Amino acid sequence: MRTFLIAGNWKMNKTAEEARAFFAEFNALAPAKTKCEALICPTFTALSAAKEANKGRISLGAQNVYPKDSGAFTGEISPKMLSEFVTYVIVGHSERRTLLKESNAFINEKIHALLSHQLKPILCVGESLEERKAGRAFDVIAEELTEGLAAISKEQMAAITIAYEPIWAIGTGETATPAIAQEVHAFIRNWLVKHFDKSVADGVRILYGGSLKASNAHDLLSQPDIDGGLIGGASLEAKSFVDIIQIADELL
Ligand code: 13P
Repeated sequence: MRTFLIAGNWKMNKTAEEARAFFAEFNALAPAKTKCEALICPTFTALSAAKEANKGRISLGAQNVYPKDSGAFTGEISPKMLSEFVTYVIVGHSERRTLLKESNAFINEKIHALLSHQLKPILCVGESLEERKAGRAFDVIAEELTEGLAAISKEQMAAITIAYEPIWAIGTGETATPAIAQEVHAFIRNWLVKHFDKSVADGVRILYGGSLKASNAHDLLSQPDIDGGLIGGASLEAKSFVDIIQIADELL
């Protein structure tokens, strides 16, 4: 049985001090025990403060990784360094694919590197508005899955989460309707059945991301193939993030 993963992606927001303030508020507002799993992915520079201030209440994740253990890679952060702070790492976010031209092959390397350090990758996939209008959404997502998950075994899939983030819904206030999101999530689930098997597909959590907030969380999380959210804007305020956790908990 899958439980919800309610994940906040802070993107390039919050200093270490601001992260401490968030967790002080979060710890006061959040129920002591939640049925769903909650996760926050701060920036690298706020990870240490977040780990201390969070007091082990929720999981922590990173927003990126470089797929090498150590060496001459100025400015980069290795899986081993991250493993001191986090359990999850986001890879293939559309902002990195677009702004930093990250390829599916590079994202695949990152996934393998994370798995070799027992870190859990969250692989983001999703189509642009032009691709959706051209009827290519499923092709784009299938390609991102095929190349991003190349040479991943059935056993390794148990550690991987997929996030469907339609680019046209990120930070725009425009959310995919529950029906559109469910259609894509079911497509991803079937892709996993075909490329691995039904038991792998049943175990993988598929998150929705793109203007998810307290006001639409119930309708999105009620869909059978939506197993949580990857939340940008609405994860920056402790109150709105806790509201989403509570909505998810009520559905479990
Ligand atoms: P928003 O929730 O701000 O649309 O961001 C979604 C996202 O990109 C999370 O990774």
